[in-house]
Amino acid sequence: MKEIKVELADRSYPVLVGSGCLGRIEKYFPESARRVAIVTQEQIGIEIPFSKDFKVFEIGKGETAKSIETVIKLCREWVDWGLTRSDIVIGLGGGMVTDVAAFAASIYHRGLNVINVPTTLLGMVDAAIGGKTGVNLPEGKNLIGTFWQPKAVICDIDTLRTLPEREWKCGYGEVAKYHFLGADDMRESGLIDTVVECIKVKTSIVAEDERETGNRAILNYGHTLAHALELENKFTLAHGEAVAVGIRYAAQVAFYLGRIGEDRVAYHEEILNHYGLQMKLGKRVDIDRIISLFSKDKKSMDGITFVLDGDLGVEPVLVQDVNILMKAMEVVQ
Ligand code: GLY
Repeated sequence: MKEIKVELADRSYPVLVGSGCLGRIEKYFPESARRVAIVTQEQIGIEIPFSKDFKVFEIGKGETAKSIETVIKLCREWVDWGLTRSDIVIGLGGGMVTDVAAFAASIYHRGLNVINVPTTLLGMVDAAIGGKTGVNLPEGKNLIGTFWQPKAVICDIDTLRTLPEREWKCGYGEVAKYHFLGADDMRESGLIDTVVECIKVKTSIVAEDERETGNRAILNYGHTLAHALELENKFTLAHGEAVAVGIRYAAQVAFYLGRIGEDRVAYHEEILNHYGLQMKLGKRVDIDRIISLFSKDKKSMDGITFVLDGDLGVEPVLVQDVNILMKAMEVVQ
């Protein structure tokens, strides 16, 4: 089992990665915890052995259930059950579940301890780590949320045994991203080493910029287009699939801006191909609408801010020439 520490002063916490590490979860419960609220989804079907009094709270599936209504329902159910401020919440599932569970925990009684147990590759390498929580609005993804660090993140590789093919691809969309954020080349690595390498990169970025006032934005590489595509396609395109297209698109924007050459664009394609990821949508999209969605994305600060590759690596860049953003869409349609 590997342990990576997220260094955030008094909010530091461990991320465990390995086979069977779920069995250690109670070690991370606060002494005060009498009750454990497990937030999960029906289809996840993973049981955690506890000595404490626990109750399972199921939430709906998909991005449409990632809503403020789901959070309010959860909080009301917790009140009914008598969950107190000294108890603990566990988010057991994919990124949607851990985002919702941790958001509800962060506002319930003004903040409750939470442990994330991601059961998807995407959750393990990204969503469950770093303290971003949130839900969607009809206007955009993750537009309401908090920064609320968990007490621990438990990435038990055994939970991936039944992960559907499409979910693996989604996870590899995020893994591909780390190739451009300073990770070692993971193409020959086994699963545990890949997960650990991605987590190391993410935790070092989060440790330096917890609240995304600067460099943490690079974790959104490929995400500005991805969020717009997910919204435009009413979430029929999964997050990781959209990120893969978004990474290819970001490479094209960087190329048109003269930030990278053809060889670097080809490297992006090589990485995406290695993980079997589609980098084209296979259909025409309403480009004007996509561009208008960019400016609603929370990463757009002054004009349209994109995370782009370049000589100094991946960094946030203000793109003022909308024609370039439009032209680059042609390569991913
Ligand atoms: N998923 C991007 C971040 O945690 O900042």
